Amino acid sequence: FSVPTPINEPVYAYAPGSKERALLQEALRTARSQEADIPMFIGGQEIRTGNKGELRPPHDHKHLLGYYHKGGKNHVTDAINAALEAKKNWEDLPWEHRASIFLKAADLIAGKYRYKLNAATMLGQSKNAYQAEIDSACEIVDFLRFNVKYMSEIYSQQPPVSSDGVWNRVEQRPLEGFVFALTPFNFTAIAGNLPSCVAMMGNVVVWKPADTQIYAAHLLMEIFHEAGVPAGVINLIYAHGPDVGEVVFNHPDFAGIHFTGSTAVFQEIWKTIGTNIHKYKSYPRIVGETGGKDFILVHRSADIKAANTAIVRGAFEYQGQKCSAASRVYIPQSLWPALKELMTKDINSFKVGPTEDFSNFINAVIDEKSFDKLTRYIDQAKSDEDAEVIIGGEYDKSVGYFIQPTVILAKTPDYVTLKEELFGPVLTVYVYEDEKWEDTLRLIDQTSIYALTGSVIAQDRYAIAQASDALKNAAGNFYINDKCTGAVVGQQPFGGARGSGTNDKAGSMINLLRWVSPRTIKESF
Ligand code: SER
Repeated sequence: FSVPTPINEPVYAYAPGSKERALLQEALRTARSQEADIPMFIGGQEIRTGNKGELRPPHDHKHLLGYYHKGGKNHVTDAINAALEAKKNWEDLPWEHRASIFLKAADLIAGKYRYKLNAATMLGQSKNAYQAEIDSACEIVDFLRFNVKYMSEIYSQQPPVSSDGVWNRVEQRPLEGFVFALTPFNFTAIAGNLPSCVAMMGNVVVWKPADTQIYAAHLLMEIFHEAGVPAGVINLIYAHGPDVGEVVFNHPDFAGIHFTGSTAVFQEIWKTIGTNIHKYKSYPRIVGETGGKDFILVHRSADIKAANTAIVRGAFEYQGQKCSAASRVYIPQSLWPALKELMTKDINSFKVGPTEDFSNFINAVIDEKSFDKLTRYIDQAKSDEDAEVIIGGEYDKSVGYFIQPTVILAKTPDYVTLKEELFGPVLTVYVYEDEKWEDTLRLIDQTSIYALTGSVIAQDRYAIAQASDALKNAAGNFYINDKCTGAVVGQQPFGGARGSGTNDKAGSMINLLRWVSPRTIKESF
């Protein structure tokens, strides 16, 4: 069988007065008017424990969206058992039937559930309509369709060479055991991709989403079931992270983890897996995308309008909470006055407020913990001698976790906000002397432990080539004359190395190959 090459899901514009906008607004009103009661899904059953957590929009934290039912260690064990029970039938199902299920899920999201899932992402994760659309409509649909294509290519690979009297072949087996998917708040698409691409390859999954993403994760799970994912193949649990870890990482059938989240958590998990390594049947697959300190480097030959657009979009879309978001920018002295003027004008024009008002570009940051962390950095910059808050710097959490898009000017190249990951609408600018271009390349490469995304903005081809070479290991996704966010599935495979992850490129064959364990078979006649 061959699967047709997909095209990327078109992005709806939600223009004022459009039918799409009216339908999305209706979905938002419906979601807000109901009080959701969200169960876990274990072995195809909805599990309600009565131990409830609350779900509230980050931009309107007095409003209750609903409750989710939290589990304990026993539910993690139940989820693993349900997964192992479902395993034999699932892995024996010919791959084209697994493909059909996930293609149907993509169709359901692109059609029937588009507005509902976007509304869930807008309310639960405080994304504006456009940011929700490119995430929970387009990117997740692209992940599902492109992964099915890559999956079909993996199963259709040419066999190895065989000599006379011999038939050599390679069988792509699923992993022996279950896989744990631990997913982040910031993309509904990533939350859906991490368990689904693993399951697609014939594996069974225990999935724990971030608490702050449960509202949309639960809907994704319902869609997977409606599309035909059998009971037990993907099990969705909500429980205290350390409790989940204790059960999952001590289990002999633990076969791998598909993770997106913080570097600190991933490193702890890696250590735990190392400590427990003798307990497992196989060496587990460890696949993770972690932190970033993504950069934009402007060269003196840059078009300043292009530089401005890359900076303000790259830094502030979705409140800077993309792992790919620009958080440090290096600008030559000669361009700084003009660029500062453009940036100030644009950034001050961004409206800040709730997602339900479509004119707001900036919404709330995800929760109080994040708000407090970000505002501590802002306050520190206000009082530090080697920094200055030059744009924004105001914040208010009385209604929602709102932070004005903020720019800090760092006066030393090792200022704290040039190095540490903040994950929010706070950008740090460092202005370098034009003739120190080469020193600046070294500086960018050495300033942070991360290497996820980065951009160079320049018209001078020698400068582009030089930056591309000098920053070869500083970013897994490198952009020339563009912002460093917005990788599109099938076009720019996404992921980074160093402290940013295992670089197994989400939405690519490289990633899917981590979820199979090939068996080589030699038959002699
Ligand atoms: N694909 C997103 C981006 O590049 C991150 O997951 O912004």
